Amino acid sequence: MKIQLKKKDVLFPVPAALIVSGLNGNYNIIAVSWIGMVSSTPPAIGISIQKSRFSFDLIKKAKEFTVNIPSSKYYVETDYCGIVSGRDRNKLADTKFTFIDSRKIKTPIIDECPLNLECKVFKEVEIGEHTMFIGEILEAHIDADKTNDTNRINVDISKVDPLIYCASVREYWTIGKKLGDSFKCGTELKK
Ligand SMILES: Cc1cc2nc3c(=O)[nH]c(=O)nc-3n(C[C@H](O)[C@H](O)[C@H](O)COP(=O)(O)O)c2cc1C
Repeated sequence: MKIQLKKKDVLFPVPAALIVSGLNGNYNIIAVSWIGMVSSTPPAIGISIQKSRFSFDLIKKAKEFTVNIPSSKYYVETDYCGIVSGRDRNKLADTKFTFIDSRKIKTPIIDECPLNLECKVFKEVEIGEHTMFIGEILEAHIDADKTNDTNRINVDISKVDPLIYCASVREYWTIGKKLGDSFKCGTELKK
């Protein structure tokens, strides 16, 4: 038997990402879960931000942002960035995160987050009270100690330990164990 949840924004799990945006050296951090890859070539990511957010005005003006994926140990800091506004508080100071320079854009990345994406906005889509900013990923960074070899692509997900968010129940979780390799384990059913 199924129970119907009606017309509802229910999808889980989703990332709990930290978006940095701003202008002229003044940068803010917002927690965002309405986020996802929307294209591979060009590599592009969409983030949906409500028009009432301080970050909305910043991204609208700067036309760029960084996506920073926190490890699970930063769930309190991440939540903080999702419950107070940069209009009232300096979230960088309050979380004790560290900004470091990006390579391709002016907006910094968060050093403590193991995965960082530098994005340039190339499209905006209006959806109700949200605007989806679609950003082309111009550069991606991964902590060197989270890879299994020197080519920096073989990421060890257990070391990244990304924070997981279950939106509708409003809970933070950690990632579980690896089950298999994609585009591979499914071939078993072809036999
Ligand atoms: C886990 C989590 C996820 C969130 N996801 C979004 C989101 O996808 N889009 C959005 O507009 N607000 C989202 N919020 C709410 C904003 O983070 C929150 O309103 C924040 O205080 C806005 O900060 P700002 O005014 O400094 O931009 C989320 C909050 C939490 C705790």
